[in-house]
Amino acid sequence: MINDIQNSLIKKESIFGPDNYKPLPVVLSKAKGVWAWDVNEKKYLDMMSGYSAVSHGHAHPELLRVFHEQSSRLSLTSRAFYTDTLGPYLETITKMSGFEMCLPMNSGAEAVETAIKSSRRWAYRTKKVKPGKAEIIVADGNFHGRTTTIISFSTDENSREDFGPHTPGFVAVKYGCSESIESAINENTAAVLIEPIQGEAGIVVPPENYLPEVRDICTKHNVLMILDEIQSGLGRTGKLFAYQHSNIQPDGLILGKALGGGFMPVSCFLSSEEVLHWMNPGSHGSTFGGNPLAAAIAKRSLELLEEDGLIENSRVMGQYFKESLLNMNSKIIKEIRGKGLWLGVEIDPELISGKDLSKMCLEHGILCKETHETTIRYAPPLVINKEELDWGLDKIKEVFDKITG
Ligand SMILES: Cc1ncc(COP(=O)(O)O)c(C=O)c1O
Repeated sequence: MINDIQNSLIKKESIFGPDNYKPLPVVLSKAKGVWAWDVNEKKYLDMMSGYSAVSHGHAHPELLRVFHEQSSRLSLTSRAFYTDTLGPYLETITKMSGFEMCLPMNSGAEAVETAIKSSRRWAYRTKKVKPGKAEIIVADGNFHGRTTTIISFSTDENSREDFGPHTPGFVAVKYGCSESIESAINENTAAVLIEPIQGEAGIVVPPENYLPEVRDICTKHNVLMILDEIQSGLGRTGKLFAYQHSNIQPDGLILGKALGGGFMPVSCFLSSEEVLHWMNPGSHGSTFGGNPLAAAIAKRSLELLEEDGLIENSRVMGQYFKESLLNMNSKIIKEIRGKGLWLGVEIDPELISGKDLSKMCLEHGILCKETHETTIRYAPPLVINKEELDWGLDKIKEVFDKITG
């Protein structure tokens, strides 16, 4: 129940800020591990994880230690100088991912912009595409962020409407269909930019042969295959990267969210030296990108994925989560999509709307949110254990039973 304190805090957000989000009616004030508490000390299981940015759990003790240590020693310098944290971080991330180079940024959208700019430079300077003609192929239903260029190739009208003129140079084709990519390729194509699993579209998993076929097509036509793993990457699907389920290697990879360990925005674009060496002084950058605090946090966040066994836990707990939901045999569930601890539960809209279901989950102590009205996304921190997950499953069952009677 919302009381006066919550109400006044909720009001402040909408009086002093625009309603560009529609938060659920809860005011959170602290969190630890997989749990969060509202201003009245009511406890919730976080099955949202900051849209998958809190994979390590809230206030992971080792990341908290690094945060304190690094911020009291050196937090921000700009890239005008070298630091003792950036090089070691870049070495760690490139070794772990198998890419030659990493260009550090802050938000996910900035890293996507970096991938677009890098691909275009490579197309003009290496592939010799005619000046001003480079094209990038994207997929219907994509979500890559909110900048003017990125929304220019969104297929969601509300994201684009009245934000034009839109940036040209993008072609959207059917997601999950490699033939549509091949048909759209021409001599000006610089890159194909896709999500290996579409998150915001409702955890849409493409056919198994999609990524291998796209890989072959890109190689055949000398086009860069760029994957946006801002949401799917870093253990979320039970592998370090979602593309590893398909045994392929893309030419470029975009990471964000969990790279910041739940503490701060950290993102990057990873690729080969052939692509990234064109990003010369003055061509691109960011005051905060690669800052010492971000570099220290990101390095430890990456190491902890392996040290804490988070990737394996995502695989095992994800499997258990999916099976347990299916075993509920609830009439509400039409389909469950996803991999690892990243599930999209397609619900029957005749029984309840996604919005109302999220609200009921909230009342029962579960933080989750619908995407596209009929899909509930469950994405708890990757540190979740069986006991915690069982607690959540009991609550979800209670909600489902209440709806179906
Ligand atoms: C696949 C994908 N790309 C890009 C973004 C944008 O990231 P940010 O919100 O950090 O700009 C998101 C955010 O949800 C995402 O899921």
